[in-house]
This record gives sequence, C-alpha cells and structure tokens, in this order.
Amino acid sequence: MEALFDLPAVHRETFVGQIEYRDEVDSTNTLALALAQQQELSAPLLVLSAAQTGGRGRGENRWWSSRGALTFSLALDGPAHGLPVSSWPQASLVTGLAVCQALRKRVAPADVRVKWPNDVYLEQRKVAGILIETIASRPGIIVVGVGVNVNNSFVDAPAELRESAVALCDVTGQTLDLSRVLASVLQHMEDELKALSIGRHRLRERWSEFCFLTGRRVQVDSVAGITAGVCQGIDDQGALVLETDSGVQRCLAGSVSWQE
Ligand code: BTN
Repeated sequence: MEALFDLPAVHRETFVGQIEYRDEVDSTNTLALALAQQQELSAPLLVLSAAQTGGRGRGENRWWSSRGALTFSLALDGPAHGLPVSSWPQASLVTGLAVCQALRKRVAPADVRVKWPNDVYLEQRKVAGILIETIASRPGIIVVGVGVNVNNSFVDAPAELRESAVALCDVTGQTLDLSRVLASVLQHMEDELKALSIGRHRLRERWSEFCFLTGRRVQVDSVAGITAGVCQGIDDQGALVLETDSGVQRCLAGSVSWQE
C-alpha cells in the first residue's frame, strides 16, 4: 500500500523538528498535549494521523475526520519562538491566514476566506477548522490543531452537512497530495508566526485581504451576550469589529452567524 504521507519530505521542507505519525488516533490534539507534557520542545512537534476516531472541535463540537482528511497538531514552545502567551490570540488568527493561503494555491480561482476567529471557508462552506489548546502545568506550550477537508468528499454526506461543509476534492474534482497540502500549510505557518514574533505582522490589513465576514450583517454570541451589526473586519488586537445600531463594538470571543 502506498504511504499516505511522505514524512521525510515534510520534515525536510518545514520547520518541524519531530514527527509523531499514527495511522489512527482519537485526537491529534490530545496526543500532542500528552507528548508535550512529557518532553522539552526545542523545535515544533508535529502529531499527524491518517484518521481520528474522536476529533475535537471548539466548545463541545466534534470534528469528523475520516480518511482523506488532513488532521494534525503542532506543539511548540511559544516564548522560545518569540511568541509570549499574550500573542496567542493573534497566533491563532495568523494560523487561519496560513491555512487560507495554502489552500488558495490549490483551488484557485475558487474563493477561500478566513471566518473569524478560526475557520476557513471555501465557496461559502467550511473547509478547515483550528483548535488551540494549552497545558496548565507547562504554561509556555501551545498546541495548534488543524483539520482540513482535503480528500474526504462530502458529496455523499447528509444534506445539512453538504450545505455547511466541503472538501478540496469536491471543488477541484481531483484527489490532492496530502503531503503537499500539509507542507504548504506548515510553511505558511512558519512565515506567519515568524512575522508575528518579530512584530512585523500587519494583522489587520492582511486579514482584510481574506476576511469572509467583512461587509456582512453578523451576530456574535458570547458570554457577554449577543452583538449584532455589520462586520468591519478586525482590529490590531484581533477583535472582530462590528458597526452596530449603537456605534462600533469590538468582540473578543464568541460564535458568529451571518446573513447571506
Ligand atoms: C473547529 O472548527 O471547531 C476546530 C476543529 C479542529 C479540528 C482539528 S483536527 C486536528 C486536531 N485534533 C483535534 O481533535 N482537533 C483538531
């Protein structure tokens, strides 16, 4: 059977220092958190799996990850990479930009955008999600989990799922090379995180190039309540900016719904 991933190439072409590959795992984030707890991370640790049986999304959500999906987690020592804990909200946003750019190259001219805070949309349907987790006992370690629907087609999925989610192969009509998609996402992550760490990331401007929500009427649900208005993009801190009936409001967290 042909190997699904060319691991030596991923190692050679990206900034990861160590790769843990599993044919199947419950969640790459869970495994990355466990491994990062036990060892020093002098270079980023990549945990990669061909399939997850208990993939996790944000909140209580599950992440369906059958074979053909790209599911990985990157564990890194933030401060050692110039990324103090205070920069992690931005680090999570620039990871979305990295995924978005890597996917755009593969599906052009199809439309790929970031949906604040952590989703990537392809032709108005979700194609990728990001889950950031930390370890209480290792305060500098950040685990960035990325799930991308690549060759796991949604063509035969239930109608409600088909309306909200899509895979790259559904749009290109082709099976994509998972190693190439992975290497490209990791290369963009390295560039984006580097720019953030040296204070050269123009997050607000860069986000505006890729923002799915700008100009749309949106509603943000958070512990602070519901905020509704027209999205103006994000600010330098990464907060979502809405023009509401009572003026401009910033949203720091929450789940977003929008009108067509
Ligand atoms: C979301 O959109 O809610 C985030 C989804 C994140 C899914 C990825 S797949 C790899 C990593 N392992 C997990 O269990 N979750 C993340």
